[in-house]
Amino acid sequence: MPGPNTEILTSNKSPMTLSGDTLVIIIKKGDALKGDLLTKINTLAKGGLTVLKSNGSLTGDLGELIWLPVQNSHYKRVALAGAGECKPSDYTEIRAREFFGNLSRKLRSANAGEVVMTIDPIISALKSASLGSQAAAEGLILGQYRFDTHHTRKADRPKFTLGNITIAVGTKTPASQLANGASKGSIIAEAVNTSRDLANTPANLMTPTIVAERAREIAEQAGIEIEIIERSDAERLGMGSYLSVANGSHQPPKFIVMTYKNGGPRKPITLVGKGITFDTGGTSLKPPGGMESMKYDMSGAATVISAIGAIARLKLKTHVVAIAPCTENMPGGGATKPGDVVYAMDGQSIEVINTDAEGRLVLADGIAYAKKVKNAGVILDVATLTGAMSVSLGDYRIGVFCNQDSLFRQLDSVAQSTGELIWRMPIDDYYSKQIKSEVADLANTGGRLAGSITAAKFIEAFVGDNPWAHFDIAGLMSAKSDSGIHIKGSSGVPTKSLIEYVAAKSAS
Ligand code: BES
Ligand code: MN
Ligand code: ZN
Repeated sequence: MPGPNTEILTSNKSPMTLSGDTLVIIIKKGDALKGDLLTKINTLAKGGLTVLKSNGSLTGDLGELIWLPVQNSHYKRVALAGAGECKPSDYTEIRAREFFGNLSRKLRSANAGEVVMTIDPIISALKSASLGSQAAAEGLILGQYRFDTHHTRKADRPKFTLGNITIAVGTKTPASQLANGASKGSIIAEAVNTSRDLANTPANLMTPTIVAERAREIAEQAGIEIEIIERSDAERLGMGSYLSVANGSHQPPKFIVMTYKNGGPRKPITLVGKGITFDTGGTSLKPPGGMESMKYDMSGAATVISAIGAIARLKLKTHVVAIAPCTENMPGGGATKPGDVVYAMDGQSIEVINTDAEGRLVLADGIAYAKKVKNAGVILDVATLTGAMSVSLGDYRIGVFCNQDSLFRQLDSVAQSTGELIWRMPIDDYYSKQIKSEVADLANTGGRLAGSITAAKFIEAFVGDNPWAHFDIAGLMSAKSDSGIHIKGSSGVPTKSLIEYVAAKSAS
């Protein structure tokens, strides 16, 4: 797997008893620069700290990174990193992650090597040492993510790679809290990066077969049960809606089912992810402009597969099923034609008005299978479902459609700490009339108006009474530039929230 090799370690010993290439001391705005560590550093720097402070070069402003010449140190170099205002009243894990994300890339381009980093101001600003070290681990791992597998020329790859980073504190903090936070954050961030890898990989190298192989590797490493439902099995199960999308492709479809049970409720929390490894639109072919971004159309599958991997690595006491119906959507000779009628696994008939509205077709059978075979409880589905979603909410908030107020409140509270912000969208029954069909139970499109809502109403028809939330991530599937924890390309959203939601629901 590409991505950073950095491991996040922790220590509650004084950095002066540790060693490495670079010592990074995080300071806040207007920091008094007192305490044992800074006094010692000032001595090693022959009063350099005092000079920097008095001439106004060291302010602690957010983003400041000042290298301090020192002698006789355990480190080749010492840097002071400004974290800005760190008032507990308005400081958040989101800000901490963003800070560490940016810092990780600055340290990498400065070739900082093996790093020891004190994070006291962040820990004081957040509610606990474990939240502080978790946010640090997440920011440092997510911020260094890169997808450069296919650059064969050295000049096209970033020059340096960071070594391990040891998070240390100057003040007395229980070592176990620091370590637990860093380990949880590392597992979560690695899952997000796995999700990014899966989605960033071009569609010829991430076919449904390859997604299934990757899912199998993740399952084997984490001790998760996995079943791959092949085309013939899907036919037997009556997944006519899902299979109608696969008809136009030479690539065999793979319907991935992963089950993790470690106590938890009888009815599993079920995560269903849209797994279109490439969306040409099918017979209702998309225009060529920007079509290459449709390699991201399996982002939903990528998030549920990597989330359940992390849930198992965290050994959460819970019962979770991840389902990823994977296929290409191609316009081959066998492709579904507009007007065709297909039957989903639960017996509902669907008139396929537009073969480009394929996401809901694969989700229909994903959800029907979750209910019928896996006895699903709460269902969360994640999909790059509608272009209309980016028109309404842009690339900042994920549109979430939910049939239970308490479930939405829980998801919203999780989102406010993961930073994968959501916004509740309406699912009034009024909208259902748009997806009525003349010839079948449902039509797969509902016209121009309220495109994201009619898509959600279509999915709801397969959910029935289960508590359910649908994440339409079309607007956020990829980032346009590097900033904070976001790296150009696949966002890996909302992997963090799926994991944290399940963690919050797990027995401790
Ligand atoms: N995968 C697309 C949605 C999409 C478009 C995601 C752009 C991200 C960026 C989905 O399968 C699709 O094509 N939806 C259609 C639905 C329409 C035909 C009702 C759309 O949004 O145009
Ligand atoms: Mn489509
Ligand atoms: Zn699609």
